[in-house]
Amino acid sequence: MNQTLALLLKRKSVRAYKSKQISKEIKDSILAATLRAPTAGNMMLYSIIEVKDQATKDRLVKTCDNQPFIAKAPLVLLFLADYQRWYDYFRVSGVKQHCEQKKIAMRKPQEGDLFLACCDALIAAQTAVIVSESLGIGSCYIGDIMENYETHKILFDLPKYVFPITLVCFGYPTKQQQKRTLTQRFDKKYIFFEDHYKRFEKEAFEDMYRERQAQMFGKKKELKGALNVGQEMYQRKFDSGFAHEMNRSVQAMLRAWGTDDTACHNNVPK
Ligand SMILES: Cc1cc2nc3c(=O)[nH]c(=O)nc-3n(C[C@H](O)[C@H](O)[C@H](O)COP(=O)(O)O)c2cc1C
Repeated sequence: MNQTLALLLKRKSVRAYKSKQISKEIKDSILAATLRAPTAGNMMLYSIIEVKDQATKDRLVKTCDNQPFIAKAPLVLLFLADYQRWYDYFRVSGVKQHCEQKKIAMRKPQEGDLFLACCDALIAAQTAVIVSESLGIGSCYIGDIMENYETHKILFDLPKYVFPITLVCFGYPTKQQQKRTLTQRFDKKYIFFEDHYKRFEKEAFEDMYRERQAQMFGKKKELKGALNVGQEMYQRKFDSGFAHEMNRSVQAMLRAWGTDDTACHNNVPK
């Protein structure tokens, strides 16, 4: 087995870090590899902010659904889906005048552009995760950064066409984290298809979730009122306060992204 394959097969999220700092050289290597990630049309539709300020990290603990380990991570990177930089460049490049001359409307970034920028940002994030892992540094995504859009916009001076799609905490894993067993995955037959999508019925789902049911419920018939993994996950994750907040926040961002007003020029440097 080659080293990359071995690395990928043993990766796990790390949520407790040694106090050891990550050196500038190592950070530079992580960034160099990250910036080589594939990117749509070689446009690099993302930006990365290193969150250095401890008070900001402390704030993120709260705005990202109370996750204290964020404050203790030696390296915290915010990955932004970013169409603002290109749109600003279009503006300074005289694209508006160019469109007027050609008698065509100059369009603004839309939802498809946002999704493409999210792809870029997430691929960059995962590249950072893997290169860090290869350097002995563990990491954990914080999806809750998609919550509280308005607060994060102010906290990081985000203009209209920039959305914080993910946050990643990095640090050297504690002994306990190193020893932690890998999480389970669903059997490949439920995830990987050939040529066509497959939907499943009750029996297939029972088989798919058997191991998780055993792990979560043990011999118990019921867990906090739930009778199976479906009910438990629905109430704990899908219908949770943080899921509702994430959807509210993303809807607010989509409204802001899609509205045809002049706010997109608010943050343009003079
Ligand atoms: C998009 C995304 C968002 C995540 N958000 C969080 C989070 O907010 N907090 C957390 O502790 N872990 C988070 N994780 C880590 C997952 O919980 C973890 O990857 C999953 O449980 C599988 O465990 P493993 O990575 O150790 O294999 C996130 C992972 C992804 C990919």
